[in-house]
Amino acid sequence: MATEDRHGLGYERVDDDPNVSVLLSAMDATSRWEATRRLRAWERDQLRLGEGQRLLDVGCGLGDAVLSLAADLGDDGEVVGVDVSAEMLRVARARATTARCRVRFTVGNACALDEPDGGFDVVRSERTLQWLADPDAAVAEMARVLRPGGRISLIDTDWSTFAIDVGDDDLAERVRRTMRTERHRPSNIGRRLHDVVRGVGLTPLAETESTQTWTAWNPDESAAPSGCFSMQSLADDLVDAGQLAPAERDGFVLTIHLAALRDQFSMALTMYAVVATAPTT
Ligand SMILES: C[S@@+](CC[C@H](N)C(=O)[O-])C[C@H]1O[C@@H](n2cnc3c(N)ncnc32)[C@H](O)[C@@H]1O
Repeated sequence: MATEDRHGLGYERVDDDPNVSVLLSAMDATSRWEATRRLRAWERDQLRLGEGQRLLDVGCGLGDAVLSLAADLGDDGEVVGVDVSAEMLRVARARATTARCRVRFTVGNACALDEPDGGFDVVRSERTLQWLADPDAAVAEMARVLRPGGRISLIDTDWSTFAIDVGDDDLAERVRRTMRTERHRPSNIGRRLHDVVRGVGLTPLAETESTQTWTAWNPDESAAPSGCFSMQSLADDLVDAGQLAPAERDGFVLTIHLAALRDQFSMALTMYAVVATAPTT
């Protein structure tokens, strides 16, 4: 079993991470999550993009979500993807070759977008706010570049909803307490999306949520459940939050791995989404 594999997922500075390829492939895995697919389909229905519109994706990552929306913009539309990671954008550009409309992927900071006021019909951002020190500032920037009456779509994780069941109530409770504590980043942003958009003067139009579940995982075959961090990395979080003594770390990981091998393993995590509109004047 891969008990030494730390496989922590951190998207603040992807390009500086020695495991950048792990981070990139985890993005592909999370795109395949049933919950992600449901939220992206809901978003597409809500946005009802039109031909010729300009769409911005902030923290676009590998670009797959915004590239699939590009099909709704016709030949005259434009997609712009902004991300702080050049590595992410290198992959996104390679995947953009079949888009019909113009596509531009550009390195930038969500909190200081290098785009003019009111230049976009629609702005989206998915699972990026949780990595920012000031998510409200980023949403204010998104509102600034949105045209009057334009729409914004935000999708983000709420780590306070994360639950693990391996038949050990004490372990589950320690994980629950850890995940309910915001430590180095706004990891519980998901359920605050409604308030964040209202805080920058936008009007929420629709909201939803979707829960991703994992019911099986073989730790002999993969270092972590699909698109997720390793259990060693989870143990590190518990130690950091004061829910686990450093000496208990290996036992914690082993308990989870052995339960997973017995097929007694489940995890759940909820993501939230909001679509809002900018004032018309
Ligand atoms: C978890 S990934 C999500 C990627 C993509 N939105 C998706 O849902 O597949 C978070 C992304 O936010 C980017 N990111 C982190 N901090 C950023 C910042 N300050 N400005 C722009 N992008 C940022 C990361 O490089 C990464 O691509």
